[in-house]
Amino acid sequence: MATHDLRDERPAHLVGAALERVRAVRPGQTVTLILAAEPSLLMASLNLQLRENLAWDIVEADGAWRVTVRHRGDVAPADVLALLVADHKRIDGLLARALGLLNRGVTAAAAPPLREFAAALRRHVAFEDGELAGSLGAARAAADEPPAIMLREHREIAQQLSLVEEALAAAVPDVSELAIYCAILSGTLAKHEYREEYNLFPVWRAVLMKRENHERVALLERARSALGI
Ligand SMILES: [Fe+2]
Ligand SMILES: [Fe+2]
Repeated sequence: MATHDLRDERPAHLVGAALERVRAVRPGQTVTLILAAEPSLLMASLNLQLRENLAWDIVEADGAWRVTVRHRGDVAPADVLALLVADHKRIDGLLARALGLLNRGVTAAAAPPLREFAAALRRHVAFEDGELAGSLGAARAAADEPPAIMLREHREIAQQLSLVEEALAAAVPDVSELAIYCAILSGTLAKHEYREEYNLFPVWRAVLMKRENHERVALLERARSALGI
């Protein structure tokens, strides 16, 4: 376990110095930071910059704050939005695996991860559209606000996914056509997930934090069963 004392770090350099120390935290590892000021906001900012890869505990003692930082994979997702971020990574991983196989021309081997990807993506989008848009607010959003952008992008994703599924269902799938459709969808998804994680989820998290704890727990449980993770 590495411990870094950042109490003498100048304020202008603190975020960069802390980011440098926690960036490399891998599953099974722990990094401890000692800080001179209450670090909740600092940790939230680092976590956002690292795609919500971090989990941490803060303890105050003798006028300093001790933060124990772990990889998010070592702890259960804290809320429904952290679970969705983990699901983004799982979905991205399945598509990357399928795309790698398609690019090597092995269509038969690419089919199972591609079917798993399509099913996971449909479950994910259905949960965001159905459960979250309803309970955390999207229907009332203006057209240029993050919830409305999400709903529009989901329709585009559904169309691109249908092209992939149709190409995969052909009697003899055309491997280059399939690879192109997958590559287009991969680009669309990367931008969509980025916008959700950086623009939409912070808005939804603020709504979520105003709810009772039992409501947050119930929503997390419904997400787990809907997404199958
Ligand atoms: Fe989405
Ligand atoms: Fe999402």
